[in-house]
Amino acid sequence: MPPPVVELEHVTKTYGEVAALAGAGIVVRRGEMLAIVGPSGSGKSTMLNIMGTLDRPSRGTVRIDGHAIDVLTDRQLSALRARTIGFVFQAFHLAAGVPALGAVADGLLYSGLPRGERRRLAEDALRRVGLGERLYNEPHQLSGGEKQRVAIARAVLGDPALLLADEPTGALDSRSGEVVMDLLRELHRAGTTVVVITHDRDIAASLPREVRIKDGRIEHDSAVDGHNSHVVERVSS
Ligand SMILES: Nc1ncnc2c1ncn2[C@@H]1O[C@H](COP(=O)(O)OP(=O)(O)O)[C@@H](O)[C@H]1O
Ligand SMILES: [Mg+2]
Repeated sequence: MPPPVVELEHVTKTYGEVAALAGAGIVVRRGEMLAIVGPSGSGKSTMLNIMGTLDRPSRGTVRIDGHAIDVLTDRQLSALRARTIGFVFQAFHLAAGVPALGAVADGLLYSGLPRGERRRLAEDALRRVGLGERLYNEPHQLSGGEKQRVAIARAVLGDPALLLADEPTGALDSRSGEVVMDLLRELHRAGTTVVVITHDRDIAASLPREVRIKDGRIEHDSAVDGHNSHVVERVSS
């Protein structure tokens, strides 16, 4: 069985009185692709942000790529994140006036690589998402789906082991949403571990694993309770 990329054990996250996560546990193994679904406010983004080390839990254990994050300093955590994780959000966060190539290359600004190399890698990433003909287009010259593909190109630039996407199709029409989902499936086939939050039940059902979350708890995980329970590793007592 492939090694875990993400392990959450009894993870709780509270904001004042609100428990955004109330004891969530999940293991994501290298090479998996899964959907996280649940009603608005159920804790999906909180869980994704904790998986992505953008946030630390109030209680519980988080291991990313085998590293327990509670013993890492913020600086070590940033380094682990930069090396291991790519993010895609619902909003594209593309600055006006910056062509696609520059927007993606800027993702490597702190990599220490020379400008020419940054642009070469950015071009490769844009070709990978099917935007080889749009390198010099600015945001206003790109459709919503194309902007999201630029964001994905930036997320996969360093070839991260883990790609986390929070409602990546939420702002797109259904056709562009399909293109973006096909692209995520393609990255998964090429070996990237992909976790996608979605509101769309059809998208969720189409992925190899579906995790349903409600009130900060995981109420269903197809890898544990579902049809493919044979893949689940049982802890011997
Ligand atoms: N930074 C925050 N400060 C206060 N409350 C928050 C914060 N982030 C999330 N919450 C609350 O935690 C709960 C879960 O939020 P979230 O994880 O964003 O849910 P989802 O992504 O499923 O819609 C909600 O009640 C939300 O209002
Ligand atoms: Mg959310």
